[in-house]
This record gives sequence, structure tokens and C-alpha cells, in this order.
Amino acid sequence: KILILDFGSQVTQLIARRVREAHVYCEIHPNDVSDDFIRSFAPKGIILSGSHASTYEDHELRAPQAVWDLGVPVLGICYGMQTMAVQLGGKVEWSDHREFGYAEVRARGHTKLLNGIEDFRTADGYGMLQVWMSHGDKVTELPPGFKLMASTPSCPIAGMADETRGYYGVQFHPEVTHTVQGKALLTRFVRDICGAAGDWVMGDYIEEAVARIREQVGDEEVILGLSGGVDSSVAAALIHRAIGDQLTCVFVDHGLLRLNEGDMVMDMFAGKLHARVVRVDASELFLGKLAGVSDPEAKRKIIGGLFVDVFKAEAAKIKETHARHVAWLAQGTIYPDVIESGGAKSKKAVTIKSHHNVGGLPEQLGLKLLEPLRELFKDEVRELGVALGLPPEMVYRHPFPGPGLGVRILGEVKKDYADLLRRADAIFIEELRNTKDEATGKSWYDLTSQAFAVFLPVKSVGVMGDGRTYDYVVALRAVQTSDFMTADWAELPYSLLKRVSGRIINEVRGINRVTYDVSSKPPATIEWE
Ligand code: XMP
Repeated sequence: KILILDFGSQVTQLIARRVREAHVYCEIHPNDVSDDFIRSFAPKGIILSGSHASTYEDHELRAPQAVWDLGVPVLGICYGMQTMAVQLGGKVEWSDHREFGYAEVRARGHTKLLNGIEDFRTADGYGMLQVWMSHGDKVTELPPGFKLMASTPSCPIAGMADETRGYYGVQFHPEVTHTVQGKALLTRFVRDICGAAGDWVMGDYIEEAVARIREQVGDEEVILGLSGGVDSSVAAALIHRAIGDQLTCVFVDHGLLRLNEGDMVMDMFAGKLHARVVRVDASELFLGKLAGVSDPEAKRKIIGGLFVDVFKAEAAKIKETHARHVAWLAQGTIYPDVIESGGAKSKKAVTIKSHHNVGGLPEQLGLKLLEPLRELFKDEVRELGVALGLPPEMVYRHPFPGPGLGVRILGEVKKDYADLLRRADAIFIEELRNTKDEATGKSWYDLTSQAFAVFLPVKSVGVMGDGRTYDYVVALRAVQTSDFMTADWAELPYSLLKRVSGRIINEVRGINRVTYDVSSKPPATIEWE
């Protein structure tokens, strides 16, 4: 296994991710762990991460002495290379201005780390790497025993190596995808230089995570808020695998879920996994409090607040009635949430992780926090879910906002509207799943990032048979995006749109007009509210 020492970089988790992609097990620990810890960890190799933007103030951070005494290969990345240089007798020039971005690095000499790894070759025969750099501070003098491995015009020592000891430093970031050969370089380090076997798979992750959860939880009990979303579902399945009936899931049905969603969640968790799940049908409560409210943010606040109240009441009941000590609140927090919560990003930042990750909730309930997915990226969580036996349709579902249909019914939320919308939405999703794009062979559901119907509480005139209708409108929305910050409307085939609109108007009495939303984000948002 590989030990990653974290000096506080925003992208340290990406190092771990790349190492996992090379099928090697790794763990991230803070840079100031004890020498004893490192010795007992017995890593095959160590990676020193970069540090956050203000390295200048913190350039006293060092790797523990055991890193250099253990006799295993060490790779220093960015700040990690600088501290390597300082600790082994080289020099670093600290500076308070930094340069970020794309750079072309010239690989010098043959090192085991870079040999044969290059993006292109210069006329004079140097291998070149296209990398993402962030420097300002730089190594200005190699430590004894090191040779120059890479350079750029503005950073003459962009890489260094002492191959007898297996020490390597790179000023650029191989863990980010902008560094084209980054994955190859990290794979080379952990597999070839450290000699890690490369036989680690997601199934092993389950075993390790299960062992960790058992050790953490002991014989205490855990409560988890299940929403039917990917993250809480995978967390529930994993924790259930570890501790079975010591886990109680609370599924608050706010009445704003998609068609049959509540039953599907119950069928999966209570029916198939035999997990202990309490379903709280709170739809009347939610719809009651939403009556007469049409402002989007007010609706969000009501839904979020009620959700916490209902969940708290249920958790308190469970605490009182269970024989064993209920001591944990589990959440499906994943790594991007950990980064996001570092700074309030937008009006939705607090609710983005739906209602389950409400700050302060564990304290209010007197519970400790259990977050077994904290280190994983979304696609890894999905892979884990499949490995745990969750159905791929559930694990690869489009995201669904915490307030649910509450923000897809424009203005005031009414039960009748929700019922119409649910049926229209289900038709749209069914057709997207069943229609394949000929060029790629993929379904249009898989080719879009998020798709749904929106209920517009306005009536328009239509004809049906011999009669005139005066009914509601739904808008279809389908977008393609990689990060949900910007998004393009999806160019769905006309034939598909035609089928969806025909079915909705024929099958959902009360809707006589269907429109397609052709706005991109920005300036529009993905949701209509
Ligand atoms: P917008 O509409 O801002 O949406 O372009 C971006 C992504 O965030 C989701 N979203 C929410 N998720 N609570 C959530 O849990 C919310 O209040 C909320 N509002 C928007 C939206 O579905 C999209 O994926």
C-alpha cells in the first residue's frame, strides 16, 4: 500500500484517485503524523502532496523524519518536492506570487519515472510533457545526490530525481487531468518504482471499508437519512453490509418524489437488502406548509426545514426505543461535497447536498458523524454501488434536487399538480431510456446529464376529439453538462420529442400542451426555480 501525506492541497484526493485507478491501495494522512505511525503503516512508497495556495506563509511544513529513514521510494509533488529539497539539503526560493496553468515541460535525461512517458518530442530530441503547473516558490538548488529531471523556461528545476534512493520530485501536478501523462506517471511510480502489485479492485475497497466501519462503530447503533439518491443509497448499502441491523435508515417521503420512487426505495432497501428502514409519510405535512407559498427560495426553506424537523423527531424516537446505544448519524457525504463545504458557493450551497448533510445536525442529535464515502468521487461511488449489488439504473440515475418536485412545480405547490407532473415526467424518462442514439448506441437517458418535466401552472386552449380543452402545460428539460455549473440543452431527436409529447397529452388528462426548453445555462439555470 501507498501512503499519501497531505500538506493541504485542494487536489490531494485526486492523487489517491489516480493511485486507485492504477489498482493500488492507498491512504491519505496528514503531513504531521508520527514517525511511529509511518513505520507501522509500512508503505511500499510515499507521496508528498502539494499544499494550498498560501504556501508562502506555511513553508515550514515538513515531512516526518521517518519518511526518509524508511528506505522506500518517495514522490514529492509541488510543495512536496519543495519540502523534499529543503529536507535533503537543497534550496528553495519562497515567493508570494504564483503562476498557475498550462506549461510544457522538457524531460531531461532518462529517469525510471519519465522514461518513455511524453506527449511529443522536440526537434532536438527532448521528450516534452504537457502539464498543469502552479508555482512561484521553486527549487533553486538540487539536494546532494539528485539530478535534474525536468525543466521549463520559468522553472529551471521542474523535476528532480535521486534514483539510488528512489526519490523523485515534480513541480507540476500529475494528479490533475490537465497533465496529460499524469496518470501514466503516477502509475509508473506506484507500480514500477514502489513495486505495488496493482491487483486492488473496488471489491477490496468494500472489505476495507466494512472493516473500518465495524471498528469505528463497535456495538453501537447508526441512523441514516435515506433519500433514494445515489450517495445516501450507496452509503446505506455499504454500512448495512458492515453492521446489518445496527443500521436504521429513515426515509422521509415529502410527497414531492417522482412516480413510484418511494416504493422503489422501500423495495430495494427493505425488500431486497433486508435493511431496517423506517418510512415516514410526511406528504400531508409538507403540502400543508407549502400551501399558499410561491416564492422559490421560501419553498426551499420550508422543505429543508421540515425535513430536518421530521428527521430529528424520528431519530429521537429511534434513540429512545432501541435497546442498544444509538451513537452515530451516517451521511452519504462524498469528496466533492467536502471541497464544496469549504466555502459557501451559491444560494444553493447549503442545500445542494439535499437535506441530509445539514450542518449541526449531529451535534443537535448528540450523535457522532459516520461518513464512509468521504474519500470517493462520484463515479467511484457509483462503481462501489454496483459492486455492492445496487441496480445500475439506480446508481446511474440523474441527480434529483433535495426539494424534489417542489422546485419543478412553478409557484404554489399543490398535490394535483404534483400528480400530473409525476406522470408526465415518468413518460419522458421512460422514452429517454428506451430510445437509443444510433451513432453511439447509447440511450438518450445516458446521453443526457439531467432530464425532467416542469409543471407550468398556466392553462392553454386545445382540441381533443370534438371538444375544446383548457388545460395545463408542461415543459421538458434535458441538459448535457459535466459539472452542472454550465450546461447545454440537449439536441434530442424530433422523433423522440414527438413521441413524448404525444404520449403525455394522450395519457395525462389535465395536460394539453408540451414544450421543450431550449435555454442553456448560463443565463438560464437547469431547474426552473
Ligand atoms: P441549477 O438549477 O442551479 O441546478 O442550474 C444545478 C444542479 O443543482 C441541482 N439543484 C438542487 N439540488 N437542492 C438540491 O439538492 C436544491 O435546492 C437544488 N437546486 C438545484 C439541480 O437539480 C442541478 O442538478
